[in-house]
Amino acid sequence: MKKKYLIGNWKMYKTVQEAVVFMQQLLPQLEAIRPLAICDTALALYIAPSFLHLPAIAALLGDQKSIQLLAQNCHHEAEGAFTGEVSAAMLASIGVSGVLIGHSERRNYQKEDHPLLAKKIKRVLEAGMQPFFCCGESLAARRSGNHKAMVQQQLQESLVDLTPKEIETLVIAYEPVWAIGTGQVATMEEITEMHTFIRGILSNHYGVGNVPILYGGSCNPQNAAAIFGCADVAGGLIGGASLEADQFVKMIMALLA
Ligand code: PGA
Repeated sequence: MKKKYLIGNWKMYKTVQEAVVFMQQLLPQLEAIRPLAICDTALALYIAPSFLHLPAIAALLGDQKSIQLLAQNCHHEAEGAFTGEVSAAMLASIGVSGVLIGHSERRNYQKEDHPLLAKKIKRVLEAGMQPFFCCGESLAARRSGNHKAMVQQQLQESLVDLTPKEIETLVIAYEPVWAIGTGQVATMEEITEMHTFIRGILSNHYGVGNVPILYGGSCNPQNAAAIFGCADVAGGLIGGASLEADQFVKMIMALLA
């Protein structure tokens, strides 16, 4: 059975108290679902909350591994005089398993470019965590037919310094920018086409076969089963629909169906 992934990306939502309430609602439901998952290793669940929520949720989880923590970002240097920043090692030290790298909101608003993202991936690996690398075309690129070229450039320029062994540790999330938070989900044909394309790059350029490729962008409990049923979709990166425990559980059920 292939491993399936579901990530809740909370972006800049929820207070710490609200995050704790969410987890208190979610954890008993995960216990109930557990027998449905063949084994824990077949289903990997993650929450990517604000930095501030991480220690509170880590304390709540204790040794429980039913859901793991991701950070939404980290700095590209190992340490130094970077006021207001958070390093990969800091995140690893509190039990964070991985970091989202290259989310389109950070590419757009923080102007994160390919070389910067390449450095971040290195820092995450050095800290012993898993990089969750996000890629996806803009609306303009999709309209002009340049969607594949744009995603290819994102992958090639940010994965350039990695060995095939390092690339094997990645999770890739394909998220068309025009589908994120818009309610306009990509069609099943578009998703399948791009996942096949990304798979081709990973195997042709790096000789790597098993990297999970997730879809993200307006996934919700209504469309999740169809999306997760597409060829080579290993799960989802979920924004809006991950903010309520009941919705998130419905997405898990769709993944397990
Ligand atoms: P969305 O966000 O599910 O709200 O579209 C997805 C994401 O930004 O990862």
